[in-house]
This record gives sequence, structure tokens and C-alpha cells, in this order.
Amino acid sequence: MRKIEFFDTSLRDGEQTPGVSFCISEKVTIAKQLEKWGISVIEAGFPAASPDSFEAVKQIADSLNDTAVTALARCVISDIDKAVEAVKGAKYPQIHVFIATSPIHMKYKLKISPEEVLKNIDKCVKYARERVEVVEFSPEDATRTELNFLLEAVQTAVDAGATYINIPDTVGYTTPEEYGKIFKFLIDNTKSEREIIFSPHCHDDLGMAVANSLAAIKAGAGRVEGTVNGIGERAGNAALEEIAVALHIRKDFYQAQSPLKLSETAATAELISQFSGIAIPKNKAIVGANAFAHESVIHQDGVLKNAETYEIITLELVGIKHNSLPLGKLSGRHAFSEKLTELNIAYDDESLAILFEKFKKLADKKKEITDADIHALFTGETVKNLAGFILDNVQIDGHKALVQLKNQE
Ligand code: KIV
Ligand code: ZN
Repeated sequence: MRKIEFFDTSLRDGEQTPGVSFCISEKVTIAKQLEKWGISVIEAGFPAASPDSFEAVKQIADSLNDTAVTALARCVISDIDKAVEAVKGAKYPQIHVFIATSPIHMKYKLKISPEEVLKNIDKCVKYARERVEVVEFSPEDATRTELNFLLEAVQTAVDAGATYINIPDTVGYTTPEEYGKIFKFLIDNTKSEREIIFSPHCHDDLGMAVANSLAAIKAGAGRVEGTVNGIGERAGNAALEEIAVALHIRKDFYQAQSPLKLSETAATAELISQFSGIAIPKNKAIVGANAFAHESVIHQDGVLKNAETYEIITLELVGIKHNSLPLGKLSGRHAFSEKLTELNIAYDDESLAILFEKFKKLADKKKEITDADIHALFTGETVKNLAGFILDNVQIDGHKALVQLKNQE
């Protein structure tokens, strides 16, 4: 079983999500949770971007014990100086240097020739490598780069001392088959006496970021980059929790494993959601509220008899506390009686029949039946305040809201 390093860029590429900005203390809290989750390397930021970015990387570097900390730098000496300075307190510091290699980026964005790009790679990777032992190089927009030039760029970075070669699908353009072939070509043709580790870095513009990342792993990548919940620029990055659980559930196929403590997955996803202000979609794989929910009577009945009929992942695996079967108009008597038991509501055959009929009438009007609704059916009361709390205070800070509730009594 190959071990795959997990590289989290939630604090750098993830923070490029429109509308998302983490404050420094949130970044440190997230970094500590990522360490607890078992992430191998945290890309803590882009120190040249602003004094706050620099400070966040520095504080994260100073506070982690087991996880490597890296910082992003363009192929620009002053960027590398800032990145080196920011990560120097880390137990395992790394530097990530990038420059674009696709014709469109070289011509219109960088306005330099391919030869100048190669010269810059050589100069900047050497410069970074003289200061920090572990350097990753990324040819930005790699998947729209001419393949032989991509190999030249990668070989130049390797010869200059890079240990990790990251192949970004910057605009989410590639497909699993194509991306796998790019990895195979680069792995087979890059020459080095040292071990060179390749990694995918995928964006989700065509909805293939996770599939592309897995294809790269299948083709020999030893590290994978992504973010928690798939946050990131435009449609986002590859969701690391999906990749980790896919490797776990389909180890028969991938023959590779993540270093993650999967039972910390739900807590990590919730933290990112809370601090980013981006709710986890209900139907999101692995951590969405509906990921373990079975509503139709056939599925509910099957799951109650043997969860494996419709569940390939257990709640315990990803650290979700319990699976309350959500009830709706398609739910059957079996699921309904299980819910009564879960809520400690005593019933006999007669009361079950009455309650089930009331439930069916309500379910025709209301899409989702909550636990409070079931209690109300039982007591015959209308539930006015579901949780028994009243709103005490609301503070709005940018896109975040701090809501304080107090007990009604
Ligand atoms: O998507 C991208 O190309 C990047 C690079 C900076 C690695 O995020
Ligand atoms: Zn990216």
C-alpha cells in the first residue's frame, strides 16, 4: 500500500474563494485542526501578498509540531525571501515556487519567452533551495502547457534542486484519462538521482477535480493537493476529504492510503465551514447533512436491516456522531417506529397506528419532519419554539454572523 502525502491549501488557495477571508487567529485554529486530522503539509499562505498573510504563515509555522508548513512564492526573489522568512520557525519548513508555463500565460500574463521562463525556474528554485531544504515547484496552468515544454520545465526545476513537482490544473480543464497520462509521461521521463515526488493540484471548473486527483494518484503521484470541503478560487479545489475517503473505501483499486485520521473529518469540515461562512451543501459527498440520510421507504427499510445495503461509508469512519433517519412522506412505518424509539417515545401497536397516520398527514404538507415535529405529534401540541431558545444578540462582521441565543427559561 503506497502512502500518499496530503497537502492542504485551504488557507492559501482556499482563501482565494470569493468572499472568504480568515483572520490570523482563525488560520491558526484551522492549522491546528488540520494537524490533528493528519495533514502532511499545510500551505499556510502567500507571505508576499500582505503583512497579514506573512504574519499568519509565521504564527502557523511557530505553532505546529508534526505537520510541515509551506508558503507560496512566485518565481521572484523578493517573494522567496518573504516565504523563507515566514516559515523559518517551522519544525519542517518547505517553500512552494511557481511560474506559468502555458503559451497563453507566458504570452499575455508574463509577457516573457519560454526560454526566459526556464531561466527563471532555474534561478528561483536554486535560490529557494539554498535557503530551505524542501522545495516544491509548480508549472502553473500545466494542463494547457505543451507536453515537451512541460517536461523541460519540470526537468529544469528538478536539476535546480526541487524535490516535489506539482502539476496544477489551474483552470480545471483536464480529464482523468488525460491527467493520468501527463503524470505517467512526466514520471517516466524526468531524470534524477534523487526521489522526486509528483502531486496533482486540481480545480473543479468541470466538476472533475477529485476524479482528476485520483487519476494522478493511480498514475504514480505520491502527494495530493486540495482543500477542505473543496473551497477555493471559482468552482473550488479538489476536496481532500473526498480523496481520502475514496482511497480508504476503494483501497482494493487505488492500493494507496492517506495519512488522515478519518474520524476527524467531520470536525475539520465544520470548522472550515464555520470560519469561511460557506455552508456545506446538504448533498455534498462525505460531509453533507444528507450524505448518510435515507428517505425512501425501500432504502430506510434496507438500512435498518443491514446498513451496507445502501451505505458504503459509516458515520463513525468520518466522525459523524449519529445517523438520525430523516423522515419525510416516503418514510415507512418501520423507520417511523425506529424514530420513536430513538426519541424515547413509548408506543404500542394501537398508538403507533394513530401516530403514523398523523405523521403521514403532516408529511404530505411539510417536506422535512423534524424530531420536534414528532414530539408535537405525540403530545398533540404545536411547537412554537423548537429548541426552547430565544434570540439574544446578533453581530455581523463582513460575511460572518455571531448569533447568541439564550434559554427561554
Ligand atoms: O491553481 C494553481 O495553479 C495554483 C498554483 C499557484 C499552484 O494554485
Ligand atoms: Zn490552485
